[in-house]
Amino acid sequence: MRVNTTFQLLVSAALASALAPGLQLAYSLERPTQGISISADGRKFLSQRYSLTDPPQAVELINGNTTVLYPNVAWNSYNASNSSSDPRKTFVSIDGARIGPDGRYWLVDGGSTGVNGSTKLVGVNLTTDSVDKIYYLSSITGSEGDIDDVRFNAAQTVAYLSDTSGALVVLDLGTGKGVRVLAEDSTAQAWYPMMYNGTLVPGYGQAGSTLSVGLDQIEVSPDGKYLYYQPCNGGLYKVETAYVDATLTNATLAGSLGDYAEPVTLTPSTGGTTIDADGNIYVSDTNLLAIWMVTPEGRATILVQDEALLWTDLMWVTSDKKLWLPASQMRPGGDGLMASGPNYIFTYPIDAGPSPIDHA
Ligand SMILES: *[C@@H]1O[C@H](CO)[C@@H](O)[C@H](O)[C@H]1NC(C)=O
Ligand SMILES: *[C@@H]1O[C@H](CO)[C@@H](O)[C@H](O)[C@H]1NC(C)=O
Ligand SMILES: *[C@@H]1O[C@H](CO)[C@@H](O)[C@H](O)[C@H]1NC(C)=O
Ligand SMILES: *[C@@H]1O[C@H](CO)[C@@H](O)[C@H](O)[C@H]1NC(C)=O
Ligand SMILES: *[C@@H]1O[C@H](CO)[C@@H](O)[C@H](O)[C@H]1NC(C)=O
Ligand SMILES: *[C@@H]1O[C@H](CO)[C@@H](O)[C@H](O)[C@H]1NC(C)=O
Ligand SMILES: *[C@@H]1O[C@H](CO)[C@@H](O)[C@H](O)[C@H]1NC(C)=O
Repeated sequence: MRVNTTFQLLVSAALASALAPGLQLAYSLERPTQGISISADGRKFLSQRYSLTDPPQAVELINGNTTVLYPNVAWNSYNASNSSSDPRKTFVSIDGARIGPDGRYWLVDGGSTGVNGSTKLVGVNLTTDSVDKIYYLSSITGSEGDIDDVRFNAAQTVAYLSDTSGALVVLDLGTGKGVRVLAEDSTAQAWYPMMYNGTLVPGYGQAGSTLSVGLDQIEVSPDGKYLYYQPCNGGLYKVETAYVDATLTNATLAGSLGDYAEPVTLTPSTGGTTIDADGNIYVSDTNLLAIWMVTPEGRATILVQDEALLWTDLMWVTSDKKLWLPASQMRPGGDGLMASGPNYIFTYPIDAGPSPIDHA
């Protein structure tokens, strides 16, 4: 190892030597980061969710470890106790955020139960830095509060959104209409509580309750043929996108989509996933504090394991073949499902770049 003299570099070197081989510290931030998206021209956007005191926010990483609210202050100004706050025009609860294949930064606002208009998919044009698409989702889901993440079909005409109460929302981006499918299917249900570092994750209910989360992670294969999905406690399935897309117009299929699902592999309790150009899915294991790699054939191995990979969530793949890993710091115990820092984003080298139909 090269010997450096400044304090900052010594600190980084000490941490780097303590990290698993290949794992590199990229950013150290004031707030815990749930997700990172990097545009084709290198701009970096973060969703910062897990704070004990502050609402979730979207930011752009502008310089070193400095952030500014994105796309602006107004969208990040929601205040539940201020009746002038408009839940249709502000982020109430950002759950997923990613640059789509169309180059837009898409934010999934899971919203909040009982807050009308809060559950929505919001698209930001990165050229104008302004919101130019909004899809309100409660007319499809029948309630506010459960939508978690988004992916797109190869033609960019359909969005798939996970509904953590145990369903998939299929949204026609042209009409804004959609269907909620798999709701009665076992493949979308939480069949076991979440785990963290060897223990069950406590739930929000009475003492002794555990946290169960239904359909959460979704990916689309680079050839656009399959939609992968799983409940948050794992158990990865795939289903042909042709069937999924057809549920928009075929009610029989919408009611029986689960019949077309195929098991892929038994994944663990998961913080987040991403996919590369070769179709490998990276799964963040919240129990072993590790990242798994699942090949298109369903072969699962542990790629890297480190205590610092603490509830890694929305990962990203860049064309220089790096996997970006935000350690969100969500963990049970203490004051709710959260702990204070350190708020790190890491990188890890992989063998492929991003899937072109997943992100630009
Ligand atoms: C950002 O934080 C990382 C990790 O602590 C550090 O290596 C890097 O030098 C910081 N960047 C700047 C510009 O301060
Ligand atoms: C939220 O709104 C309430 C009521 O208007 C106000 O008292 C409080 O200061 C606001 N909080 C923030 C963080 O602006
Ligand atoms: C309440 O929200 C409105 C609209 O965003 C804002 O103009 C006003 O300053 C807020 N009031 C407080 C007390 O935060
Ligand atoms: C919220 O939406 C429901 C159902 O559409 C409606 O009955 C209710 O009045 C709305 N509440 C508010 C505060 O707008
Ligand atoms: C974003 O805005 C620019 C400038 O108006 C426009 O040329 C571009 O097509 C927009 N991008 C998308 C994805 O619509
Ligand atoms: C994980 O559990 C082990 C064994 O109890 C403990 O030593 C370690 O500090 C825990 N790590 C984290 C990151 O919570
Ligand atoms: C609708 O889906 C069902 C079940 O897969 C299939 O049998 C039927 O042919 C489909 N209808 C049309 C019009 O495609």
